[in-house]
Amino acid sequence: MSDAQNIQKNLLKTTGPVNEFIANILQDKKPVQIYEASRHLIEAGGKRLRPFLTIKACEAAGGNAKDAVPFAAAVEILHNFTLVHDDVMDHDSLRRGKPTVHTKFGEPMAILAGDMLFAKVYQSVLDYAPAHISSEDVVWALQKITDSIITLCEGQVLDISFPKATDVSEEDYLFMIGGKTSALFKACAEVGAIAAGAQIEVVDALGKFAWDSGIAFQIIDDILGITADEKTLGKPVGSDIRECKKTIIMIHALKNADENQKKILLEAMKEEEATHEEIEAAVEVLREVGSIEYAKKEAEKYLETAFKSLNVIKDSDAKSQLISLVNYFVQRQY
Ligand code: IPE
Ligand code: IPE
Ligand code: MG
Ligand code: MG
Repeated sequence: MSDAQNIQKNLLKTTGPVNEFIANILQDKKPVQIYEASRHLIEAGGKRLRPFLTIKACEAAGGNAKDAVPFAAAVEILHNFTLVHDDVMDHDSLRRGKPTVHTKFGEPMAILAGDMLFAKVYQSVLDYAPAHISSEDVVWALQKITDSIITLCEGQVLDISFPKATDVSEEDYLFMIGGKTSALFKACAEVGAIAAGAQIEVVDALGKFAWDSGIAFQIIDDILGITADEKTLGKPVGSDIRECKKTIIMIHALKNADENQKKILLEAMKEEEATHEEIEAAVEVLREVGSIEYAKKEAEKYLETAFKSLNVIKDSDAKSQLISLVNYFVQRQY
């Protein structure tokens, strides 16, 4: 079995109890439409990277996986909430190979499903955190989650404001993805460590590891958004170019392209009108300029930094699995 297959199997096995927890907390009540809309994306699949991070961080900090389940469910529910609203903002109609929530149920229901999921994040922790975890630690975990949502919203605002900006730098991009992606990754690892009763040094080290891994993850996600097979990826390919998103790839290309190449890129970025051929021509330019290769190398640098944060964590099976997980980020095809 390849490394990627191994980690995929491990993701499924580790997050099985989290899926059960989520199915339970989102089971039908009246009116059923809101529960159907809230479960739609979760039932469509997803890799479950974030709950895996929570559970493995808990184990790496010396705790029991079982104790981390409500926290792991909370972060996956939170992730799904952000995706439901993200697809409205990004005008995307496909995710996890299925129609997005607003496409299937309409925008008002997508807004409501997001609200419901948001509340379920807090209910998961407040009502189901194991009794032996102190109230101080429960509050600490909720603070971590709350802080991450605030940072995530700040990152998302930058993401949607960049298409109209002409001078977005690589530094701006890294700051933006720190907000929209790494903040939640960090919280996932932190709450896992808190569920284990870990000391602040361990919580911080795992949080820092997850933050840098999140940066690498998002850079790879942006590469896949250009190069992947749409069916395998389960979400639209090329939509970042069409939506004029300033990814690290595009920023590098706009800086390094010659006049003719630049013209092709700008042609493809004229809001939502670009044809399939124009997008393909732009992707070809991104390859020619070496921007995709450049982005991949940058992602690898962040992984190296992430691994360094784990030096203070005692060696264990769970720690090795965390390392395998983030190595998988760079190899993944979806
Ligand atoms: C998608 O995250 C959103 C990003 C931060 C890029 P994932 O790629 O983890 O999505 P699922 O949960 O597997 O669908
Ligand atoms: C998703 O960012 C990040 C959040 C939902 C917070 P993107 O918009 O880049 O991710 P995809 O490509 O839609 O999954
Ligand atoms: Mg999106
Ligand atoms: Mg987005």
